[in-house]
Amino acid sequence: MTLLPALPFRLHLHAANGHAGTPVLDDAGFRAARDAITSWPRYAPTPLHDLPGLARALGVGALRWKDEGGRFGLGSFKALGGAYAVARHLICTLATRGIAATDAELAAGRFAAETRAITVACATDGNHGRSVAWGAARFHCRAVIYIHETVSDGRAAAIARFGAEVRRVPGTYDDAVRHAAEDAAVNGWTVVSDTSYPGYTDIPRDVMQGYRVMADEAFAQWTGPAPTHLFVQGGVGGVAAAVAAQAALHFGKTAPRLIVVEPDRFDCLCRSAVAGRPTPSPPGPDTIMAGLACGEVSILAFDELLHRADAFMAVPDEAVAPAMRALARGVDGDPAVVAGESAVAGLIGLALARRDAGSAAALGLDGAARVLLFGTEGATDPELYARLVGAAA
Ligand SMILES: Cc1ncc(COP(=O)(O)O)c(C=O)c1O
Repeated sequence: MTLLPALPFRLHLHAANGHAGTPVLDDAGFRAARDAITSWPRYAPTPLHDLPGLARALGVGALRWKDEGGRFGLGSFKALGGAYAVARHLICTLATRGIAATDAELAAGRFAAETRAITVACATDGNHGRSVAWGAARFHCRAVIYIHETVSDGRAAAIARFGAEVRRVPGTYDDAVRHAAEDAAVNGWTVVSDTSYPGYTDIPRDVMQGYRVMADEAFAQWTGPAPTHLFVQGGVGGVAAAVAAQAALHFGKTAPRLIVVEPDRFDCLCRSAVAGRPTPSPPGPDTIMAGLACGEVSILAFDELLHRADAFMAVPDEAVAPAMRALARGVDGDPAVVAGESAVAGLIGLALARRDAGSAAALGLDGAARVLLFGTEGATDPELYARLVGAAA
């Protein structure tokens, strides 16, 4: 059975991997994030599905899918990052006023008189903004969320449901990032962004430390011989960097190979890896993989990936619907898995690289490979999901 036709893709093998670099995500920061997030009410690890049918269809030894669709009821792994960074920001701000607060006290509204006067802002293509809005609602502060032209009304409504103000601005995600930063500077708000840029790194670092909980759970849930390959989708690179840092902590020198997979229309990580420095992708058509529609890398994430990623891939939009459908029906007796558009890039990268002899050999992807994929979202845009898969989630 062929999962995908032989669609064009690009593979950049990253020779700089393994070189010493400055660690961007310190392990103490991860432990603090894990302790906080796992103490939140309704915290539970998301499932790791074994998909032997899909593994056989692709010609690898094992394939497991970390399914983030149920994360805190928000539909994606992003629930771990933005909301955690909001809590951290509030705790740090109160500390400067001589108030020592915990997540639980914030959530209980103990300091609401103070926190209600604090506004957080961010740009989003959907999932990060949902997390920040949820965090602001939970921890009692105000949120203003910027979305660009093509973010669907359904995604905007899902953010507004948490009481955040949603502002739609012209242009792309990267334009929304700039709008959020400018308005925050004028109004005295704090940007809680999932991307970092020169002069702005502390909060995005907290966001990425939160993401590491996803990888930590997956590595703990993995049984039997360790995974050999991790395929992770890339937008600004935050989640891939988080997985990379966690793999280094968990596996040390025997960390699985890490392949970062982007839409070919938004391949800033690939371009930056080739150039060895942050390099934007040129303006062009949109991608259906909304969460990955980022034209500029997060500088912190890119630093981490520069010395930890083994390869970068750019894959076409045409592969998205077939990959979602294969997961939805379950291949050869596998359980059905609901995966949104931005969740399947890693699977697409694996499928295309495995069927191309040169790429498979270069990546060491053979019949014995054990692959871990991160299903980073469920049906976060239910209408689009139904249209692409042909059935509701
Ligand atoms: C579902 C999903 N997967 C992956 C990503 C990529 O994450 P990052 O921008 O940190 O690379 C995003 C980003 O919004 C996303 O929403």
